[in-house]
Amino acid sequence: MTDPRQNQGKSVFIRTYGCQMNVYDSERIVGLLKPLGYGVAETPDSADLVVLNTCHIREKAAEKVYSDLGRLKVIKKSRNKSGDDLKIAVAGCVAQAEGAEITARAPYVNMVVGPQAYHRLPELLARAARENGEVLDTDFAVEEKFDRLAERTADGPTAFLTIQEGCDKFCTFCVVPYTRGAEVSRSVDAVVAEARSLAAQGVREVTLLGQNVNAWASAPPAGMAGNTWGLGELCRHLAKIDGLDRIRFTTSHPRDMDDGLIAALAEEEKLMPYLHLPVQAGSDKILKAMNRGHTAEHYVKLIERIRAERPDIALSGDFIVGFPGETSEDFKATLDLVEAVGYASAYSFKYSRRPGTPGAAMQKQVPEDQKSEHLAQLQALLERQRVEFNQKQVGQSLTVLFEREGRKNGQLIGRSPYLQSVHVSAPKSMLGSIAPVSIEGVTPNALAGVLKEGEYAA
Ligand code: 5AD
Ligand code: SF4
Repeated sequence: MTDPRQNQGKSVFIRTYGCQMNVYDSERIVGLLKPLGYGVAETPDSADLVVLNTCHIREKAAEKVYSDLGRLKVIKKSRNKSGDDLKIAVAGCVAQAEGAEITARAPYVNMVVGPQAYHRLPELLARAARENGEVLDTDFAVEEKFDRLAERTADGPTAFLTIQEGCDKFCTFCVVPYTRGAEVSRSVDAVVAEARSLAAQGVREVTLLGQNVNAWASAPPAGMAGNTWGLGELCRHLAKIDGLDRIRFTTSHPRDMDDGLIAALAEEEKLMPYLHLPVQAGSDKILKAMNRGHTAEHYVKLIERIRAERPDIALSGDFIVGFPGETSEDFKATLDLVEAVGYASAYSFKYSRRPGTPGAAMQKQVPEDQKSEHLAQLQALLERQRVEFNQKQVGQSLTVLFEREGRKNGQLIGRSPYLQSVHVSAPKSMLGSIAPVSIEGVTPNALAGVLKEGEYAA
């Protein structure tokens, strides 16, 4: 058999699990390895280095890493037989939380690198080559990480931009405060420099990322007086960048939804009318046990306040069913809250017991079959709301940012302000532009529309 790597430079295959922050980190890892001569491989078979950028949030995601490692071991062994090698790196949150376990369960892994230490991958690669053993780096060094990353290369008209990492909230179900560390905000100047560079490369929409993105806070930019800035001020400032036409941010926490941010949502047109604001559950007893720091009423009132300021805002949320102690009555309160709010989209999960979190040690764990039953009920309601929201757009005109070609000839796929996929017949030259589209129908996962006559050249 011929080796698919013949006659090629070095290459890296990255598999990304989990959230958008990992997607961002994977892009930065590719950027870090580029100066070392690494191109991107499409499969592990054609790579010299495989990076698994992992997620620890639920048990299933974490276990998947070990099954993927098992498959990589086979490739590595067969390479070793012919005197060659495949280097394997485990990055991300499983690396942070289970570094020692990875070393024990998969000793053939060469590098284990946490989410705040991946800027040191080039050094670790050199060490792994020298020592031919396993090297581990799970320090928390966020500031240094961002300083050490190279300039970004944009890939298309939309981009993620991490502005904040970590979490100090300690919800009792969640591993994030342990895997990503304490809340850290990047400076205004660093964020603006990255956003400007993206805009100069044709990026028209940025999504600001953070585990608690609306907890972002920093001093005003160099040379400007005044108090600490919050996310609202940052968004208004970014909105001044020419060429950047859409700004989004995710994920927000209800407790950090301050007046400045709500006012920015109301007044800044470049801020898209879509807000991901997880509530997790609708019962005050469960919210308290989760250590969310707010009640269901506080959340619903907050939504009312935001809607009063920006009436067209679409809401998205995260939900957990089957947190310890959740009865059918508590679950009913979640359904009531969903009915009261009305979501355009949502993510919902069965509670997963995560080692080391307070929830894992709680009494009254909920049986799996009850979790499954409640999840199915909740998802049916959320799906009904999603479909209703999409159907409401039929007959409306929405601006669409065209991101990529569709599967059909002459079709482009873009996003509405509400983050819906929109399929349109349009020339390829319109990729990267924003144009008004008449919405004519809905498909299971998207809207179908036509370009509005005479407005092609937006
Ligand atoms: N079990 C199930 N879902 C979880 N999430 C976080 N931790 C857990 C867990 N232990 C969900 C929350 C969070 C989203 C990112 O993942 O809903 O908002
Ligand atoms: Fe996890 Fe809660 Fe922090 Fe979100 S706010 S990252 S759910 S601990």
